[in-house]
Amino acid sequence: MKNIEKLILQNKAWAQERRLNDPAFFERQQHSQKPHTLWIGCSDSRIPPDLITDTDPGSMFVHRNIANLVVHTDLNSLSVIQYAVEALEVDHVIVCGHYGCGGVNAAMKEQDLGLLNGWLANIREVYHQHRPELSQIKDEAERWQRLVDHTTRAQVHNLMKTAIIQRSWAKRKAPSLHAWVYQLQSGELKVLETVPAGSGIDAEYRLFPELGGA
Ligand code: CO
Repeated sequence: MKNIEKLILQNKAWAQERRLNDPAFFERQQHSQKPHTLWIGCSDSRIPPDLITDTDPGSMFVHRNIANLVVHTDLNSLSVIQYAVEALEVDHVIVCGHYGCGGVNAAMKEQDLGLLNGWLANIREVYHQHRPELSQIKDEAERWQRLVDHTTRAQVHNLMKTAIIQRSWAKRKAPSLHAWVYQLQSGELKVLETVPAGSGIDAEYRLFPELGGA
């Protein structure tokens, strides 16, 4: 059987099993969604967010792009973030990077990738900021992992710089922000950084005077 036909058949089986285990499941899903979390992850096929966290449909609002980046001029991700934070009022935003990220690896190489150059430039900037530390790491695989860590944390810091997050912190003291990394080698998540809602914001990034910070 072709892969594409298998998808439709497997979906049918999945829906039937859902109905069997919980006859009101789809009835409930029809009316509204109240996800507690926004997940920003990599498009990589090996990291399906609900599968690796064993969560039901309706639990997480999801945005995925190459290398899980939060870019200030990207209307796509900003629209998702605004809707999740302001309309759905999520309590948490997770940026989940992953070891073995091809996007991060591509940004470590001297190569012209056309359209992707502009996107990956965001990772090259992170590399540049951490160059003194990264250049000390001789093992390339280890340097790659470290750049995944730094890039993931940088996206959480990018979130903090947006008016969407700052406005929400000023208004309703949520959401909290999380930098996680998925370890392909074990299937387990690792917490890199947690930023509680209302944390201090450096003066040059602060848009709301009521938010403190250095
Ligand atoms: Co990736």
